[in-house]
Amino acid sequence: MKVVFFSAKQYDKQFFNRENEKYGFAPEYLETHLGPHIVNAVENGTPAVCVFVNDKLTAEVIAVLAAKGVKVIALRCAGFNNVDLDAAKAHGIRVCRVPAYSPEAVAEHAVAMLLTLNRKTHKAYNRVREQNFSLNGLLGFNLYGKTVGVIGTGKIGRAFCRIMLGFGCRVLAFDPYPDEALEKGGVVYLPFGEVLREADVLSLHCPLTPDNKYLINREAIRQMKKGVTVINTSRGALLNTHDVTEGLKSGHIAYLGIDVYEQEEKLFFKDLSAAIIEDDMIQRLMSFPNVLVTGHQAFFTEEALSQIAEITMRSIDQLCNGKPVSEGVLLA
Ligand code: NAI
Repeated sequence: MKVVFFSAKQYDKQFFNRENEKYGFAPEYLETHLGPHIVNAVENGTPAVCVFVNDKLTAEVIAVLAAKGVKVIALRCAGFNNVDLDAAKAHGIRVCRVPAYSPEAVAEHAVAMLLTLNRKTHKAYNRVREQNFSLNGLLGFNLYGKTVGVIGTGKIGRAFCRIMLGFGCRVLAFDPYPDEALEKGGVVYLPFGEVLREADVLSLHCPLTPDNKYLINREAIRQMKKGVTVINTSRGALLNTHDVTEGLKSGHIAYLGIDVYEQEEKLFFKDLSAAIIEDDMIQRLMSFPNVLVTGHQAFFTEEALSQIAEITMRSIDQLCNGKPVSEGVLLA
């Protein structure tokens, strides 16, 4: 049974081929993103395609997939803002995702970004390699005793809260569905605006939806403490990059760590070291000494990739072979 993988990298092949020993599917790995330009590469009669965060499953793309006989779209990620689920439903295509795969991988990366920024280890690393052991410019701040605001306390946000509580931080959260266990553990839920006003560090762990695009915009930044640190490992368009850049220029935002970026599909997961990057916004962001950018790598651990391959292949098998489908994976 053929499965076409889009946006496939060497590590995807490694983990999926290993998992495929259980199933014996015929995987075809394409490096390119799925979009209108390439959807015709899917051969007629292909039952399943497997996609990632920057593949664009618009109504137009889904209509072509349906005409080619595709029955299953398997997202090998948790977020699904890039798929037109109504179009999939209208064509009777089943859509599944990996609802949870090592939420700690993403939470720990958010913490890594925070610790890099507050202790400037990225600068220290380069400096000592040049035998410069001076401490000037490396002054950091303690996380202990700071107020950390967490937006979204699902699987990843919960893991992040637990780590921050362990650091001795005061943890405030906003989520329309507060988590009782977290509250018992010491997390205090407050309205969104109050979390913004109180937080020394703000970390985003909610999904991107049509309602919360640019959740962090000029108005939100205005409400934040001067000197705030903002971490986004969720989805790029939760931040209005232009407004955040203004916030950095004015010094209102003291540190920014982003693993996601609103225009990331043109950049991330590619080696562009010899290319001229036309995106001035990311170039400006990367020019700030107090900004750390990673290229959507928060999920990228052994444990997470193994779980992604396991759950995705199991879902494809279940959906294509009429078996009962595991709880939580179906979107349409
Ligand atoms: P989840 O579904 O377990 O939790 C999301 C939480 O956000 C829920 O509790 C929900 O009530 C809350 N929420 C929804 N809208 C909100 C809003 N406007 N304000 C505050 N809270 C809101 O999702 P999970 O697994 O924790 O993942 C969160 C996000 O992390 C994903 O949607 C995805 O965008 C991102 N992600 C990033 C990865 C990376 O490698 N950088 C990897 C995996 C996920």
